[in-house]
Amino acid sequence: MRVCVIGTGYVGLVTGACLAHIGHHVICVDNNEEKVKLMKSGQSPIFEPGLSEIMQSASTSGLLEFTTDLGAGVAHGEVLFIAVGTPPLPTGESDTRYVEAVARGIGENLDGGYKVIVNKSTVPIGSGDWVRMIVQSGIVERQKTLVGAGNVSPETALEQVAGFDVVSNPEFLREGSAVYDTFNPDRIVLGSNNPKAIAIMQELYAPIVERKVKSDRSMPPVPVLVTDLSSAEMIKYAANAFLATKISFINEVANICDRVGADVTQVAQGIGLDSRIGNKFLQAGIGWGGSCFPKDVSALIHTADDYGYEAHLLKASVSVNQRQRLIVVEKLQQVLKILKGKTVGLLGLTFKPDTDDMRDAPALNLIEHLNRLGAKVKAYDPIVSQSGLRDGIAGVLVETDLERLADGCDALVLVTDWQQFRTLDYQRVASLMHNPVLVDARNFLDREALIEAGFRYVGVGR
Ligand code: UDX
Repeated sequence: MRVCVIGTGYVGLVTGACLAHIGHHVICVDNNEEKVKLMKSGQSPIFEPGLSEIMQSASTSGLLEFTTDLGAGVAHGEVLFIAVGTPPLPTGESDTRYVEAVARGIGENLDGGYKVIVNKSTVPIGSGDWVRMIVQSGIVERQKTLVGAGNVSPETALEQVAGFDVVSNPEFLREGSAVYDTFNPDRIVLGSNNPKAIAIMQELYAPIVERKVKSDRSMPPVPVLVTDLSSAEMIKYAANAFLATKISFINEVANICDRVGADVTQVAQGIGLDSRIGNKFLQAGIGWGGSCFPKDVSALIHTADDYGYEAHLLKASVSVNQRQRLIVVEKLQQVLKILKGKTVGLLGLTFKPDTDDMRDAPALNLIEHLNRLGAKVKAYDPIVSQSGLRDGIAGVLVETDLERLADGCDALVLVTDWQQFRTLDYQRVASLMHNPVLVDARNFLDREALIEAGFRYVGVGR
């Protein structure tokens, strides 16, 4: 099938590359010329395991193309994905101006056959209908221009647009495993009341549903849930809000464990074995961050508020999360007492491993708070330390290797659970430090091994 993906951020690029990999002819449109140039040369502007490989093979086979020309993309695609950003505004609402501009642009360029317009961006509930309206207004604008220029009669201008439908198809990709998640989703949600549009989307995803590519063929087909537009939009918010709340819940339990002398890792295991609860997203630590959870939970609170409903539970999830980010500071104070003049080294900066994403990373709050208390902060991160991102982070000296990080530190804090931090030579690390204290803010390391290596080990809720 012919597909156009508009917006080559994290979601758009992964979606476009994966759809090309399963045999669709995909044109990705982005208005950033530099980025398009980079992607045309076969390089990925983001770090995501497996993405560069599929981009290169799909580009070589001619199934993945990049352009800045929206008109060309719209003319090409039977299915048009809107995958531009919806960043949070200071109020917590989503900024939908990029979606609006793209929807208008689509309308102004629609002149071929029937098109399915897919909302892939996480958009406020009700946006499906709003996008339909904007596309329609784009069509009207174009018709006025055509008729005004005397190129066509009003009747012909109308006939040139064969119609379109809007489908909500939320993504549930995790950064760091987005390519895997695209080929192995837990479910595919399609929100539309139009059977024709749904049939086209089902055909598009058939190779993934039938697990034909990069998946385990012995597994049952991927469930496809067809809903109305608003319910599909709500599913995305509700899923992220539930997962974020699950983490805030276990973090709260961890804080109580700390006081009563229980071990939250054992508690999580014990409750996770209950199939009604499940064992995932019960890892206590420094709290959730990233580009999705904070934005989506705030947006849902805001939407509820718009309708006069106060989302008490979601607000509590957010406030538990804000407090959790600073629990590490309390733990450092308990061990080091005065932090002024002390040196704290952070192991990891990104909001989670296997990504270079620093958006709403708990490390940023930690750095700010430690600076305020007069501590000197150093950090090492497997990706940030080796990239241009290093210079963009204020209040921290980003070291390029671990020995330099450990040198002279009064404490280390494990902030991001990068796999490679599990296997460090901690005896060597301890010997370089001024004071071998390690706050494991993810309960990620082997406590006994660290104690043996000479560390004073402090976990979260254990
Ligand atoms: C999330 C959703 O999982 C995904 O479905 C959605 O499309 C986008 O948002 P992502 O932001 O990539 O994906 O990260 P995820 O792996 O879900 O982790 C989110 C945050 O929660 C991270 O900061 C992570 O460190 C934290 N986390 C996760 C915990 O603190 N404990 C856990 O048990 C799990």
